[in-house]
Amino acid sequence: MTDTKHALISIKTSGDKIEIVNQLLLPHTTEYIPINSIDDAHFAIKSMQIRGAPAIASLAALAFAADLSRGLKAQADFIASPEQVKQHVAPILAHLYTARPTAVNLGAATRRLTATLEGAIAAGKDGAAICGDLIAEAHKVADEDVGRNKEMARWGGDWLADVVKQAGGSGTGLNVLTVCNTGSLATSGYGTALGLITYLHETGKLATAYYTQTTPYHQGSRLTALELQTLDIPSVMICDTMVGSLFQHHNIHAVVVGADRIAKNGDTANKIGTYNAAVLAARHKIPFIVVAPISTVDLQVADGTGIPIEHRPPLEACLVRGALYPPTDGAAQAVVMVTPPGLQGIYNPSFDVTPAELISAIVTEKGVATRRPGEQRLDLAGVV
Ligand code: MRU
Repeated sequence: MTDTKHALISIKTSGDKIEIVNQLLLPHTTEYIPINSIDDAHFAIKSMQIRGAPAIASLAALAFAADLSRGLKAQADFIASPEQVKQHVAPILAHLYTARPTAVNLGAATRRLTATLEGAIAAGKDGAAICGDLIAEAHKVADEDVGRNKEMARWGGDWLADVVKQAGGSGTGLNVLTVCNTGSLATSGYGTALGLITYLHETGKLATAYYTQTTPYHQGSRLTALELQTLDIPSVMICDTMVGSLFQHHNIHAVVVGADRIAKNGDTANKIGTYNAAVLAARHKIPFIVVAPISTVDLQVADGTGIPIEHRPPLEACLVRGALYPPTDGAAQAVVMVTPPGLQGIYNPSFDVTPAELISAIVTEKGVATRRPGEQRLDLAGVV
C-alpha cells in the first residue's frame, strides 16, 4: 500500500489556529498562511488561495468555529441569549456563503450550521450551549470528509475494475484520465476522483493516471502534478486540447472527475473542460465516472440549467502563475501575462455542466449510481 501520510495538507488546525497552504503559489512555494478571521477565510476562498468544493466548505466551517470559540474565550457571555447567538452567527454564515457560487458544499455547510442553530434554539438551549453545538457541528463538516472519500474511492475503484473485467480485460493495468485537482488539496484529505485513482494505485490496479493541465488556473499542471508526484503515482500530463488525441492513441479505461454540484437528474457541474472530456469519452465509449459525496447532490436543482456557474475575472484567463525558468538563485514566483495588454472580450466560466446522459456512473460514499438496463436516467435513488 502507498504511504499516503505524506500527502499534501490544505488546512492545518491547532485549537483555534487555522493555516492553509496558499494554492496560488504551489507547486514552487509551499507557504502556509494564517486564517485569523471570517474575512480572511472569505478572501482565501474567493481569491482561490484555497479551492476545491469540499476544502472551501471545510475552511468556511473551521473559520466559523474558530471565530465563535475565540469570541467565547474573550468574553464568556458575549453571546448570552439564543437571540444574540442568532444575530451574531446568521450574517457570518450568509457572508461566507457568498464567497463562491457553484460548489454546493459551501451552501450545504452554511445551511447545516443554520439548521444546528435553529435546532438548538428550538430545544431551549442557552447561548453557550448553542455555541457549543455550532462549534462541534462545524468541526464535523471538516472531519467527516476524509472517511467518506476513502469509501467513494473503494466503491468507484472496484466498480471500474469489474466493468473492465466484464468487457474482457483483467481489471488491472488501468489507465484513467482526470481533470482539475480533486486530491488532498481540494478536500480535507485523500480526495474524490484523485482518491479513486490513489485507491487503484494502492490496490495494484492502476497503470497510469493522465491529467489535463486544466487552464486557466492550472489546477492540473500545478496541483494534480504535485500531488501525483508526492504520492509516487505513475502519471502523464496532457494539455487540455489533447484529450481527443489521447483517446485515439492510448487505451484509456475511464475518465474520473469530481463535482461541484450535481442536479437531481444527475447533470454535473465541474471544472471547465469536464464537458469536453465527457463528449469525447462518449464518442470513444470510455466510461465517464463522477466521484462526489452525497452532499454534492443538490435535490433543489432539477437539472443542470439551474446550477449557478461562476465566471472568474477575465484577467485570470490572461495570466499564468509559476516560477521563473530556468531557475535562478532564490527564483521568485512569477505571474506572466500571455495576452496582449488591454485585451477585451474574454470568456472565463470556471465550470461547465456535463449532462447526465454522458455520465456512466456517479459514485458517492453510499455506492455507485448507474443506469438500469434500457434507461437513459441515472438511478441516483440508492446513493443519495
Ligand atoms: O475552481 P476550483 O479549483 O475550486 O474547482 C474545483 C473542481 O472543479 C473540482 O473538480 C471539484 O471541486 C471537485 S473536487 C474535490
